[in-house]
Amino acid sequence: MRNGPNAVGVSSPLMDNRILIMPKVYIKTYGCQMNERDSEQVAAMFVQGGYTLTGNEDEADVVLMNTCSVRDQAEQKALGKMGLLRKLRQQRPHVVYAMMGCMVQNRQQSLFDELPHLDVAAGTQKYHRVFAYVDNILKSRQERRMDCLEDVFVGEHICDVASEEGSQNTICDHVNPGQRSSAFVSIMQGCDMKCSYCIVPYTRGVERSRPIDDVVDEVKMLVDRGVREVTLLGQIVNRFGREWGIEQGKSAFVRLLERIHDIEGLWRIRYTSPHPIGFRDDLVQAYVYLPKLCSHIHFPMQSGSNRILKLMRRPYKHESYIELCEKMRQARPDLAITTDIIVGFPGETDEDYQETKKTVERIQYDNAFIFRYSPRPGTPASEMEDQVPERIKEERNQDLLAAVNKIAIAKNQALVGTTQEILVEGPSKTNKQRMTGRTSQNKPVIILDGSVDLIGKLVRVRIDECTGFTLYGTYCPGCD
Ligand code: SAH
Ligand code: SF4
Ligand code: F3S
Repeated sequence: MRNGPNAVGVSSPLMDNRILIMPKVYIKTYGCQMNERDSEQVAAMFVQGGYTLTGNEDEADVVLMNTCSVRDQAEQKALGKMGLLRKLRQQRPHVVYAMMGCMVQNRQQSLFDELPHLDVAAGTQKYHRVFAYVDNILKSRQERRMDCLEDVFVGEHICDVASEEGSQNTICDHVNPGQRSSAFVSIMQGCDMKCSYCIVPYTRGVERSRPIDDVVDEVKMLVDRGVREVTLLGQIVNRFGREWGIEQGKSAFVRLLERIHDIEGLWRIRYTSPHPIGFRDDLVQAYVYLPKLCSHIHFPMQSGSNRILKLMRRPYKHESYIELCEKMRQARPDLAITTDIIVGFPGETDEDYQETKKTVERIQYDNAFIFRYSPRPGTPASEMEDQVPERIKEERNQDLLAAVNKIAIAKNQALVGTTQEILVEGPSKTNKQRMTGRTSQNKPVIILDGSVDLIGKLVRVRIDECTGFTLYGTYCPGCD
């Protein structure tokens, strides 16, 4: 899964002594797509409650941070940022500070000690309550709140909040599915795997899947609002609904894909992340008969050494991971494969690392996220002996990055001269005159001559140029 900071503007009104009429909320999201999706839901609740979204922290009445704990760096960034934003209260004492997400679940009460100005802290199963807590405090400057208890799965009813009406006055493109061509859909929560390095099972709880009908209804609702591509989210999506068993040789996940595939008006389906465990042939075959399934899979490998995989408690052999990649490429020859790799896991020798590098060269990934192992307190790997020194982690990180980039750039360059189908998402961040979109392989393309009326359309684009990771192309309606 992708991880990285992502500012989502959210904000509220004029102050009549103590009562704000249209408060402004600033939301910053760290972590993976699950957090992005949770932020979208919370932002929509604020908008519906009469707040406006702002990307400018200096004018915020509410600062909300959705946090990640997967690596120490992610936690430190959020803590640092929340510390800095304390200054806002000097000018406007009413400012409300809130945190939600995995770091709240992980640190619980100690967050209030670290951040004395924090007003609200809501765990991963309580994000749907953030709006009410914040709103109450903003109106009355009530006492601080901590809510980390387990809750029943809440995905379904939160979705109802993302109304078109509520999202019209937002500047935050995460909130308005009506104007977006692509949306995230959470199909399950939690994780039961307990990989020895990972905090996620502790922050997101046990694995639980949404009913197939609920997911299908949500996708239909999104399609009615103009969404053309969905990305199904889960920690191990291919374990979706495994308690419902196999029917006619198909897992619940494949049955879900088929149902979603049938939805008229939906053009593309993506999912993240799959896991080699439970990745059955029915899912491989889906790439043959479900054309809406995009030609990209983000398939975390973590390590190319069986010894390290075992220490990581990843219950598969490196050979079976490679075999799965090969089978998928047979089923869908243009499949782009990306991955997650951890370097410097405790006990990783240079030999282990070289096996990982060899796998990178063998699979020829379209791209890879490389992470230096970060000990997470309370996880088994953090207690292991033979922790790898930071200097070695960094060396391996740089070495592997060079290998990954070389392959990724060559693959992008090979696309120059071809025509690709692009789902146009909107103006490019760096130049608003140009449109951007993605290929089925999930490669971003800047359309040099594209105009806003292409947004939400699937168009043919001839790739003219590639500068490293960015592809540039021209709109080419007659090309095939
Ligand atoms: N559920 C997904 C991964 C979610 S976490 C899966 O199992 O594939 C996203 C990525 O963060 C992981 O794939 C892993 O590469 C990385 N990661 C998780 N814990 C980490 C840690 N303690 N240190 C460094 N990277 C970590
Ligand atoms: Fe973490 Fe492993 Fe679960 Fe992925 S499968 S979320 S890496 S415990
Ligand atoms: Fe995602 Fe980070 Fe939580 S990766 S699940 S936001 S710990």
